[in-house]
This record gives sequence, structure tokens and C-alpha cells, in this order.
Amino acid sequence: MGLCPFHNEKTPSFSVSASKGIYKCFGCGKGGDVVNFIMEHEHYNYVEALRYLAKKFNIEIREEEGTAEHILEHNEKESLYNISQFAQKYFSDCLHNHNEGKAVGLSYFIERELNDESIEKFQLGYCLDSWNEFTTNALKNGYSIDYLIKSGLTVERPGGDHFDRFRGRVIFPIHNLSGKVIAFAGRILKKDPNKPKYINSPENDIYNKSKVLYGLFFAKNTIVKENNCYLVEGYTDVISLFQNGIQNVVASSGTSLTVDQIRLIKRFTNHITILFDGDEAGLKASFRGIDLILEQGMNVNVVLLPANEDPDSFARKYRTAEIKDFIVKNSRDFIRFKTGLLIEEVKNDPVKKTALIHEVVSSISLIPNEIKRGEYIKVCAQLVDVDEQALIYELNRELRKRFKKRSDKIARIDDPVQDEYTTVQQIEYKTDDSEYHESEIIRLILNYGNEKLVFENENEFGHIETSSISVAGFIINDLRHDEIVFETSIYRHIYEEIVQNYEVDVLKIGSQYFTSHSDPQISKVAIELLSKQHELSENWLKNKIYVNCEKDILKEVIISSVLALKAKKISKDLNLILKKIKNSNNVEEQLKYLKEHSYLKEILMEINKILGRIISQ
Ligand code: GTP
Ligand code: MN
Repeated sequence: MGLCPFHNEKTPSFSVSASKGIYKCFGCGKGGDVVNFIMEHEHYNYVEALRYLAKKFNIEIREEEGTAEHILEHNEKESLYNISQFAQKYFSDCLHNHNEGKAVGLSYFIERELNDESIEKFQLGYCLDSWNEFTTNALKNGYSIDYLIKSGLTVERPGGDHFDRFRGRVIFPIHNLSGKVIAFAGRILKKDPNKPKYINSPENDIYNKSKVLYGLFFAKNTIVKENNCYLVEGYTDVISLFQNGIQNVVASSGTSLTVDQIRLIKRFTNHITILFDGDEAGLKASFRGIDLILEQGMNVNVVLLPANEDPDSFARKYRTAEIKDFIVKNSRDFIRFKTGLLIEEVKNDPVKKTALIHEVVSSISLIPNEIKRGEYIKVCAQLVDVDEQALIYELNRELRKRFKKRSDKIARIDDPVQDEYTTVQQIEYKTDDSEYHESEIIRLILNYGNEKLVFENENEFGHIETSSISVAGFIINDLRHDEIVFETSIYRHIYEEIVQNYEVDVLKIGSQYFTSHSDPQISKVAIELLSKQHELSENWLKNKIYVNCEKDILKEVIISSVLALKAKKISKDLNLILKKIKNSNNVEEQLKYLKEHSYLKEILMEINKILGRIISQ
């Protein structure tokens, strides 16, 4: 067990099973095998993850075995990474070693008080003010025009000639989470109403702007340490704050945050503090975006900067200690802040006040955590001076409305947060019990399929004989004998494959085979089942059976699980027969059904008796 690398936590809930080759976090729900871990952690696709692992362990990969498509895709990305890296070096070189670069680009950064260390760290650069100096250079260095165009560094004109996208601009490279350059922003040097202040690389295979936050690569370690992430708008805001001692800072690059970006931050902390400059209108315009952050279960604070300061100018004006002091003193919880701001306008207008309450409660209702919601309702009731009960009523209405919308959209339980919505959803989706019993059978086979079960029988001479059979063999024979068929399709698939493998190669019923199954749905289910923290049923405990683990009472567990599944099937058959009896008006037929019914009923009672005995013996 350890701290989960995928979400921020203080007590470990991330477990790794070396023997099964899987990981599972009981906090955030992430789980997978070795390859999947690398994919998640390093943001690689499958092939990239394999390459990474192979390199790490000196395993040679023969590339020609990949599908043409894979190779193409990989080459595509690799080429874009390579060109970006080349361009970054080229732009830096221009900034430091070229006369124009020094005179125009470097002096611009110096004027903005960025020091050498920051320029170095953020890999700032300059693109010469020439039609296609960069493109020509890149071509000379062997980079293909196709990829230059895909990367956006080169622009092709309808006539077919090429020019440099960023010419005459200072360059801010944009990095992904592992620090690779994936795109660029170029800032113009002189104000020009006909040209945009910033231009950016277009999106491509390695750059998806809604999934990137500027500065996150440099900020992530400090974000974890400080358990807080500052959010600003601009590139220079990030660099300036960073240089002045606030290193847990990222920029949304002028647009409102996307859910993907919020989740990126959430991997490192649950706290976002927004540094606001600007006027009230601008503030209010950003409220919607902030609701999105609340909805992700994160805590949002806001800091209003002094008038006429943006984060950049503010960071330059004061010393680190002063900046931090100001932030601490002026940090406001978002919902209190929003309520306070709105109440100013409302004063004693009851109609407006109702609208305000609705507005604030709507924000509160987005918070997934019930306790936190309750606290905010209290605070809000005080601030607005209304009855708490009235707010709770309003809140519940909002929740119901949203819940209905959500369940209409069908579950997406990818969100690990233990919240009210997911619990309600889980109850709704807990399908028929036989699904549970089927999953138990699969779980037991995956965990213990090749363990031996020993049975003792008295032979005809009164001697005790022992025989043994594997867990998988026992279950397969037993279920086959009663012609039990799994109803849940995913478990039926897995079970059928287990039966096949059992006959061909028993090693293939081991967990590893299924956790790294080529069907991602199967591997996902296998991992879920294998990492289930298995709690012995209450009955085992009630009867004071103290067992350390399931394995100690494996035989009992297996037998009772098989019986429980059968009991479930019989109960269903019984219901069916009862229906038939009701629907039939032929006495003879009814008698036939009744006989069948009492026969099955007896078996069911017998099974229940055995189950009771096993559990309470
Ligand atoms: P400086 O003016 O150099 O201090 O830059 P800034 O980062 O402070 O710029 P500003 O506050 O004007 O804008 C914030 C962010 O919005 C910038 O960092 C850019 O990401 C984005 N942005 C601003 N202007 C433009 C533009 O003209 N085009 C694009 N694509 N983005 C822009
Ligand atoms: Mn600025």
C-alpha cells in the first residue's frame, strides 16, 4: 500500500500486487496492469508504454511486428515531438546568439524583468523576423515539410510557398506533463491593432489545447507540496510569479478552464486558488467556469489583486514574503465570495434576493460532498439572512433536477469521488443478484483457479479416501453437472474462456492471462475482481469464525459460492413456474407445474440448509 500517484491523498489507499502484476487504488478507483500503469502515469499510448518499459529493462522490441497503423501513428507523434524539440532549440539559439534575437527578443524579456534563470527554465526563444528563415533551416536539418506544416511551425500558402508562423515574435514553448515541448505561443513585440497579440500552434496529434495547462510541468511538484494550485490567465503571469517565489502556478491561457484541465490539476491537489485581476463584470463572467471546478469536487478560493495590478506586475512589485502574505490575507472561499458580491447588489429587493439565492444554491448543489454542501448552506443562510431550512429545500430541488438529468444520460461512474450521485447510481445499477454471484465465481477462479481442494470420502469398506481437484476443475464440473449458464454477458464470456483454457492449458486460467487480456473490457473486469477487498460475509463473522483470510477457508467459500449461485437460479425458476401456473387454465398442466415447483422448492431448501450449516458450523 502506498500513496496514490493519481490523486492527492494523505493516507495510503493505492495497492500493488506484485504477484498478480496489478495495481488498484481504493481511493480513486484507478486500476490496471503494468503496461496500463505506465500509460496512465506517463500519458503514453499502449505502444509507447511498451517501448518505455522495454527501454527501461533492456528488452529489444522488433518494430516490424506492429501493425502498419500503429507504426504510422507512432512515427507521426515522434516526428512532431522531434520537430518541436528542434524548433525550441532553434528559437532559443536565435534569442541568445543571433544579433536580431539579442537586440529584439532578449531585450524585450529583460525589459519585462525576466531573469536568465527563468528564460532558461521556460525555454523562451525568439523567431527571426524573416519570411521563412526557420523553415529553411529545419528543411536543411532533414525535417520534412509535411511535419513542419502539421506542427504549425510552417504555414503553407495556397500558392504552395511556405512561411514561418511565428516570425518576429518572442516564443513561449508549451510543455506536456513529462516536459516535452508540444506547441508554441508567440507574442508580438509592438502593439499592432491588425495582428493578434499572441498566436499559437494549431492542434495536432501531440497538442490538444483543452488538455494542457501552461506551466503545469514546472509547477506540479510544488502543487503537491503546497496542496494548492494558483490559476492565472497569462504566460507571463506564470513565469513572473514563478520567478518571484510562487511556483505552484499554472495558466489557462486566456480561455475558461475545461473539465480535462481541472482533472489535470486534480491529480495533484484538490485546491485551486484563482488570482483575479480586473473588474467586477469580468469576475462575474468567470463564475460559470468556476462552477465547473466545484463540480469536480475541488475547493476553490479566489484572491482579488489590488486595482490596476495583474499577477505579473503584482509579482514584480513585491517581495516573495509580501506576495505570500497578501495572498493569505486576501484569499476568500469562492462561495462566500460570490454570495458576498451578489448581496451587495440585492440589498432589500426581495425579487432579486430570490434570484441570488437560486444562483448561490445552484453553485452549492454542484459540490459532490454532502457534508461540505451542508456547511455551505449554513454559511449562506447567515450571509443572506434567510432560514436555513428554506435553502435546504431549494438545494434538494436543485439536486433532484440534476440527478434526473444525470440518470437520463446513463451512468458514467468514471468519477471516483464518493458522492451522493454515485451512491444513488450504484444502487440503481445494482442489477439482479445473480450478477453478483456470477462475479464471485469468476473472482474465485481468477484468484485461486489452480489451488487444490482436498476431499475426504468414505469408501465402500469404510476407509477414508482422499481425492483432490483444482478449484477451477471443481467449479467447472459442478456447474456443468447442473447445466448452469451465466446470465451476465461479460461474466459468461470470461467463464466460457476459462472453461476452454481449462481444457487446453490450465496456466491460462491464472489471473495474469485475464488481467492483460486483449479485450480491454475483460482485463478491466479481471482487475476489478482481483483487487476487490474481499470482506467475509457478516455471517462468517457473526458466528465468531476468526479467519485471517479467505484462503484459509477456501473450500467452504467455494462450495458456498457455487451453491449460492445455484440457489439464485432455482429461485428464478420457481418464480417462472409460479407465473406459468397462474397463466394456465389446464388442470393437468397446472399439476405438472406444481410437481416441478415442489421438487425445486425442496432442492432450494436443501441448499439453504447446507449454506446455513457451512456458514454457521
Ligand atoms: P502580456 O501582455 O505579455 O503580459 O501577456 P499576458 O499573458 O498577460 O496577456 P493577457 O493578459 O492579455 O492575456 C492572457 C492570456 O490570454 C495570454 O497569456 C494568452 O494565452 C491569451 N491571449 C491574449 N491575447 C491573445 C490573442 O490575441 N490570441 C490568442 N490566441 N491568445 C491570446
Ligand atoms: Mn500580462
